[in-house]
Amino acid sequence: MTVHFIGAGPGAPDLLTLRGRDLIAACPVCLYAGSLVPKAVLAHCPAGAEVVNTASMSLDEIIDAIRAAHGAGKDVARLHSGDLSVWSAMGEQLRRLQAEGIPVSVTPGVPSFAAAAAALGAELTLPGLAQSVVLTRTPGRASSMPAGETLTNFAATGATLAIHLSIQNIETVVRDLTPAYGADCPVAVVYRASWPDQQIIRGTLADIGARLGTQIARTALILVGPALAGDGFDESCLYAPDYDRRYRPQSAESPWASWSHGDD
Ligand SMILES: C[S@@+](CC[C@H](N)C(=O)[O-])C[C@H]1O[C@@H](n2cnc3c(N)ncnc32)[C@H](O)[C@@H]1O
Repeated sequence: MTVHFIGAGPGAPDLLTLRGRDLIAACPVCLYAGSLVPKAVLAHCPAGAEVVNTASMSLDEIIDAIRAAHGAGKDVARLHSGDLSVWSAMGEQLRRLQAEGIPVSVTPGVPSFAAAAAALGAELTLPGLAQSVVLTRTPGRASSMPAGETLTNFAATGATLAIHLSIQNIETVVRDLTPAYGADCPVAVVYRASWPDQQIIRGTLADIGARLGTQIARTALILVGPALAGDGFDESCLYAPDYDRRYRPQSAESPWASWSHGDD
């Protein structure tokens, strides 16, 4: 018996991985995390599967349900939205299950920041503008932030910021980022990326608050940084015609000239 943690993706049911789909189809028990896991993904559960929404359950109750499945020798598909490596609460479940000797596996999913970037048609790391992406959030009612992880500190890097769980704090986001990025820095808010009711609101740090108004209160990502302009960046060396590289040696003297592609 194994508990399979599966990233269910950002919303669109066809953004589930094939491995995730096949595991869901093979598990007689499915625990899924509330409203952010698309119902269409649950359609992969086998007929007669026990399907439980864990939104209203405590950690103890979730572990009890998994323990019961373990006792009955039933595999469990444990679904969380997006990918499991960020804000999934997988860590606390893994720790308890491992302490009890219950086997687990982890299958990644498409994270919401990638779905939001795709919706914008944006590359978040553009040469000369940004080469790092910071996945972060602002403090919430249930979660404080470690002391060094302030927006002001991240702003000092100039990186592209993908700010989760924070649309209700847009005024704070704007206030903390404007000194480092400037009021004309581009911002994009993507609501429910990849869902049928997806919305995109673009603006700058100066006007994003007014553009948003009160229309979006949850399930949105705030992307900030010069790369969001999608312009004013350098082309990468990788595809420059005169760039000497392993796959495109420029002369017989190139260190790559005698290199064979083989199976690499
Ligand atoms: C509890 S976190 C889950 C993050 C998830 N594990 C991931 O990989 O993106 C929920 C937050 O992720 C962001 N989010 C999740 N799904 C989203 C989507 N489809 N579109 C935009 N933001 C989304 C929002 O900031 C939301 O408040």
